[in-house]
Amino acid sequence: MRHLIITALTVALAGGVTGALAQHADHAHHAAGLAQAADARMLVKFPEPLVEHTLTNMRDHLLALQEIQEHLGMGHADVAAQIAENRLGMSSLQLHGAHDVAQHMPAGMQEAGEAMHRAASQFAITAANAGVTNDMKPVFSALAKVTSACVACHAAYRIR
Ligand code: HEC
Repeated sequence: MRHLIITALTVALAGGVTGALAQHADHAHHAAGLAQAADARMLVKFPEPLVEHTLTNMRDHLLALQEIQEHLGMGHADVAAQIAENRLGMSSLQLHGAHDVAQHMPAGMQEAGEAMHRAASQFAITAANAGVTNDMKPVFSALAKVTSACVACHAAYRIR
């Protein structure tokens, strides 16, 4: 009986290790897939000052996402809504000199940018409503739509 239990345990452990190895291989495969996807991005030629300008904006986009998440964590959905609208939403277009930049973008990239601004403004509305309803699930779903708009453009285009 004892022997049986030990055998069963050994088999279970070995299974665990094999499973872990298989999972590891899976991750490596996934990473290779990502590298290939990166190579497939379209290079869009921006004038040099606009490259710098765009990257500076991008770093602020990421900072805005951080601040939004921090405020959601503190229960300040209304502040998160304002940050989203002013820094990422339709209201941010002026701030970013979006018109100057957009004229150098192929149509698909312009659309990806517009989709992000729309998603951020939609998030702002959802987050502002949550201040009243206290239902946070739609807020996180709306935030995921913003990040997925970032991801979609990054997957398709590069400027350097
Ligand atoms: C319309 C396209 C587009 C959208 C939408 C977009 N980005 Fe970017 N982002 C780019 C491009 C192009 C680069 C530069 C990639 C390259 O050439 O290396 C970039 C680069 C960045 C960088 C690197 C900056 C640096 O200094 O190297 C960050 C951070 C970033 N984006 C964050 C974001 C976040 C966060 C969002 C969403 C809230 C977002 N981006 C949405 C196009 C986009």
